[in-house]
Amino acid sequence: MQNILITGGAGFIGSNFVRYMLGKYPNYYLVVYDKLTYAGNLDNLRDVENNPRYRFVKGDICDAALVERTVTEHKIDTIINFAAETHVDRSIMDADAFIRTDVYGTYVLLEAAKKFGLRYHQVGTDEVYGAVLEGASKETDSLLPRSPYAASKASADLLIHSYIVTHKVAATITRGANNIGPYQYPEKAVPVFVTNAIDNFPLPLYGDGKQMRDYQFVLDHCEAIDLVAHQGKLGQVYNVGTGHETYNIDMARLVLKLLGKPESLIQHVPDRAGHDRRYSLDVNKLRALGWEPAHDFEEALSKTVKWYVENEWWWRKLKSGEYLEYYKKQYVERQ
Ligand code: NAD
Ligand code: TYD
Repeated sequence: MQNILITGGAGFIGSNFVRYMLGKYPNYYLVVYDKLTYAGNLDNLRDVENNPRYRFVKGDICDAALVERTVTEHKIDTIINFAAETHVDRSIMDADAFIRTDVYGTYVLLEAAKKFGLRYHQVGTDEVYGAVLEGASKETDSLLPRSPYAASKASADLLIHSYIVTHKVAATITRGANNIGPYQYPEKAVPVFVTNAIDNFPLPLYGDGKQMRDYQFVLDHCEAIDLVAHQGKLGQVYNVGTGHETYNIDMARLVLKLLGKPESLIQHVPDRAGHDRRYSLDVNKLRALGWEPAHDFEEALSKTVKWYVENEWWWRKLKSGEYLEYYKKQYVERQ
C-alpha cells in the first residue's frame, strides 16, 4: 500500500484521515477524489494542500471513466472509500442521491478494484444493523437498516461481500459508530448543537431525546480504519466504536455545560420518522487487533466543542445559503 485513492476525502472523516495518514506514513502518496457536494469542502484540507504527497481530483465516484483514469494516472494500489451521502434526515426528504452515490458509486469503485487488482476498504456504518434496543451488534448480525441512508450503506456492504466472494476482490469493511470532532458539517447533531449554542440559538432535540448513540472521536475512528486497512483479515468486517452509548439529551446538556450556556436552550422538536432509538456495537473483534479508543465520550465532546469555539472561520460561512434552506425545511416547516 503506497498510492491511495481516498474517495470522499474532502468530507468530515475523510479529511481527518488524510491529515492523519500524511503525518503517519512519510512514504505514502494520497489522492483525494471528491465530488465536493454540499458536505465536501476544500477548507477541510487547507493545511495539507501544499504537501507534495497530496493531490486533489474533483470527481464523482459514479463516473467510471474518471475513476479509471485517476487510478491509472496516479498508479493507485488501494482505494479507501469515504464518499457517500451521509445524513439520515436528508435521506428521509429525498433518497435519490443516496442510492446513486452510496450504492451505484460503490459498485463503480468495486469494478475498478476488480479490473486493476486494487486493495479496497469501505468505510461503513453501524446504522446498517438497525435499531438495537438491547445488547450489542456483532459483525455477523443481520443487516436490518431502517432509514434510506442506512439501507443504501447496507446495500454497499452486500455488494462488497459479493465482490469478495465472486471476484476475489481484496476488501475489508469497517462499521463505525457516530463520529464527532473537527470539520464536521454543521447539520449533524453535535455540530448543530455546538454552533447553535455558541450563538444562543435553540438546540433542536428530536422527540424525548432518549435515543442513544456511541459518539466516538473522529481520530480514534481514523486509527481503526488505518489498522484494518493494514492488518485486517481480507474479506472481513470490523465494528468501530467505544462500546459506550450516551442519551442525546445528556449530550446536549454536556454541550451547554462546556459552553457555560443554560439548559433552557434545549428545544424538543418533532421526532425523526423511523428514528432508531439505539445503536450499540460489540467491538471485541477490533480490540483483538490491538485497537483501543484514546478518548472517552467526555474527552471527545470537549475537544470537539473547543475546536468549534476556536474555528468560527470554518463553520460560520457554511451556515448560509443552501444550509439555511435545509434548516428551514427540516426544523421550521416540520413543526
Ligand atoms: P461527509 O458527508 O462529511 O462527507 C462525504 C464526502 O463525500 C464529501 O466530501 C462529499 O463531497 C463526498 N461525496 C459525496 N458524494 C460523492 C460522489 N458521488 N463522488 C465523490 N465524492 C462524493 O461524511 P462523513 O461523515 O465524513 O462520512 C464519511 C464516510 O463515513 C461515509 O461513508 C459515512 O457513511 C461513513 N460513516 C460516517 C459516520 C459519521 O458519524 N459521520 C459514522 C460511520 C460511518
Ligand atoms: P445525527 O448526527 O444525524 O446522526 P445519526 O442519525 O446518523 O445517528 O443524529 C444523532 C442523533 O441526534 C440521532 O439520534 C438524531 C438526533 N438529532 C437531534 O436530536 N436533533 C438534530 O437536530 C439532529 C440533526 C439529530
